Amino acid sequence: MKILVTGGAGYIGSHTCVELLNAGHEIVVVDNLCNSCEKSLDMVREITGKDFSFYKCDILDKEALTKVFDENEFDSVIHFAGLKAVGESVSKPIEYYHNNMTGTFVLLDVMREHNVFNIVFSSSATVYGSPKTVPITEDFPLSTTNPYGSTKLMLERVLSDVYVADNRFSVVLLRYFNPIGAHSSGKIGEDPKGIPNNLLPYVAQVAVGRLEKVNVFGDCYDTKDGTGVRDYIHVVDLALGHLKAVEKKSGEGGVHIYNLGTGQGYSVLEIIKNFGEACGKDIPYVIAPPRPGDVAICYADASKAKAELGWQAERGIAQMCKDAWNWQSKNPNGFCE
Ligand code: NAD
Ligand code: UFG
Repeated sequence: MKILVTGGAGYIGSHTCVELLNAGHEIVVVDNLCNSCEKSLDMVREITGKDFSFYKCDILDKEALTKVFDENEFDSVIHFAGLKAVGESVSKPIEYYHNNMTGTFVLLDVMREHNVFNIVFSSSATVYGSPKTVPITEDFPLSTTNPYGSTKLMLERVLSDVYVADNRFSVVLLRYFNPIGAHSSGKIGEDPKGIPNNLLPYVAQVAVGRLEKVNVFGDCYDTKDGTGVRDYIHVVDLALGHLKAVEKKSGEGGVHIYNLGTGQGYSVLEIIKNFGEACGKDIPYVIAPPRPGDVAICYADASKAKAELGWQAERGIAQMCKDAWNWQSKNPNGFCE
């Protein structure tokens, strides 16, 4: 298949590009590099030994995106492009709504004009809000607590409505849990700008000496050790989930929704311990107040993806930490510099 990957220079996008190329697909990447750099795509070429076209293009720019579609005949689109920092979305709601919503409207418009009807969309477990129970199945009630999450939930709705209006569309909504880790080569990985918001890159930067200690946000939750529990998933497993989704669902029609997680929950302290074992160092930490808006426990029931896509996560927590450390230690000052 020939697949357009929006946001393909980013963390999850670059890993997905590797798996698409390894599986023999042709790809074209569109990215405005607002949260990534072209080096990741050079690394994708190096890892796979395969070449592909890259357009430095903002998906808000309809003319530029139209040119990409005029020059290429796509079978499917995997749509990663978006802004993703929860805290920033609270302080910059207009930027977040505009980029994520309008960008997707422009993309859908151009897709329709070029008779491309298959789209795989990056959604998030954030659409489950504060789940009452775990594990979370796809039919749980949906709600959000911040503008970032609202863009995901609203776009799920938009994409579903697009299918209702035109049954030629095949829409796959992939709700990711907590992606971590890196490609085993250490050539691509997560490279957050500034101080990381997420646990894993923060722990990795403490391990490499860029940050002093981890702040553990709360130790009084009703969990195994009082700290927050999440479903961490290796980014390569996540990438393989996209491969399955695009291969199995393109051309089928409908709206297909899947949780992509491992079904296993790990606490913050367990992550710190596992990462310490992976890098052979003690990771210093302190208990800090809980972070507003955090839920105690979140993990997936990922059985629907297994049954319908034939996909399940294969890589365990030790592998996730090992690969994250390999990436961080090979790129101690980040990637895009
Ligand atoms: P990322 O920031 O590394 O990748 C997103 C890419 O999109 C970046 O390369 C950025 O430059 C590009 N981009 C943003 N706006 C654009 C625009 N208007 N035009 C063109 N390119 C644009 O993030 P990621 O972690 O790889 O996430 C990919 C997708 O998955 C995002 O939609 C994100 O919301 C979603 N997601 C991520 C997580 C996570 O924890 N990483 C969890 C759930 C869902
Ligand atoms: N945590 C700390 N210290 C830190 C950072 C995080 O203790 O410095 C804790 C959090 O309180 C939470 C856990 O580590 O218990 C994981 O936090 P992350 O920020 O890594 O991840 P979240 O589960 O809060 O959110 C992530 C993404 C969201 C996405 C969600 C579900 O940031 O965009 O997963 O996919 F919606």
